[in-house]
Amino acid sequence: MQITDTTTAIITGGASGLGEAVARNLAASGAKICLFDLNEERGQALASELGGSFAKVDVRDAASVMQGFATARAAQGQEHIMVNCAGIGVAAKTVDRDGRPHDAAFYERVIGINLIGTFNCASQAAAGMVAADPVTEDGERGVIINTASVAAFDGQIGQIAYASSKAGIVGLTLPMARDLSRKGVRVMAIAPGIFKTPMVAGLPEEVQASLGAQVPFPSRLGHPVEYANLARHIIENSMLNGEVIRLDGAIRMAPR
Ligand SMILES: NC(=O)c1ccc[n+]([C@@H]2O[C@H](COP(=O)([O-])OP(=O)(O)OC[C@H]3O[C@@H](n4cnc5c(N)ncnc54)[C@H](O)[C@@H]3O)[C@@H](O)[C@H]2O)c1
Repeated sequence: MQITDTTTAIITGGASGLGEAVARNLAASGAKICLFDLNEERGQALASELGGSFAKVDVRDAASVMQGFATARAAQGQEHIMVNCAGIGVAAKTVDRDGRPHDAAFYERVIGINLIGTFNCASQAAAGMVAADPVTEDGERGVIINTASVAAFDGQIGQIAYASSKAGIVGLTLPMARDLSRKGVRVMAIAPGIFKTPMVAGLPEEVQASLGAQVPFPSRLGHPVEYANLARHIIENSMLNGEVIRLDGAIRMAPR
């Protein structure tokens, strides 16, 4: 699918980091974008800068997501592209240092935002896309890109909730692509390594430097624009479907 001024996209987590980079990349080609995020101030400001719209959406709340889709479609029509970047990165060990088991509510919260939030948005987008007119000669109607993590494969100490949420995104990629294949809707996931976004920029400088040094090549943190470039390539390359792409400079995370 080519990105033109008739292309429409929804980007969750679009107010920051990887989602913001995708929004900027697509808007630069004239696409109409709607950002879903909890951060209203930043989301509104970026949406107006890019000539798009914003909806305050909590991705883990199905009613809030439905409201967001209504807002987006009223502003720009049915979306061709759905990029799910909303997520949180938090840590807790299976048993803490005082011998207490991992808090179940904390686990549910991470799964709720990262995995069910992705499911909520991807499934709503899919329902709209399958009913839309095709936009390519192949009969393509839409592209859904979800954000996993290398933690889905090499989760570190303290990442049982985060790694499970991201492994769930890996797990839904192929069956969702198969479900939607007859209608010309592709589903892909990107599993980033470590990217310099606000999620990571909050860590002490020496920790960031050490993380960057662990990447075989290039030995640095990823730039959000590199994530956006891959998302764009996935949109433009119709043979990419049902796959998870690691974008990580060959890092394989150590236990800690
Ligand atoms: N930065 C990295 O190194 C890295 C690595 C692997 C995976 N990821 C994943 O990439 C995605 C984007 O991360 P980022 O680094 O850009 O983080 P970020 O913190 O910069 O951006 C995440 C955005 O999601 C929004 N958000 C959080 N919870 C939400 C909710 N319930 N509803 C709606 N919006 C919500 C936040 O307000 C924020 O704007 C996340 O899913 C993260 O797990 C990031």
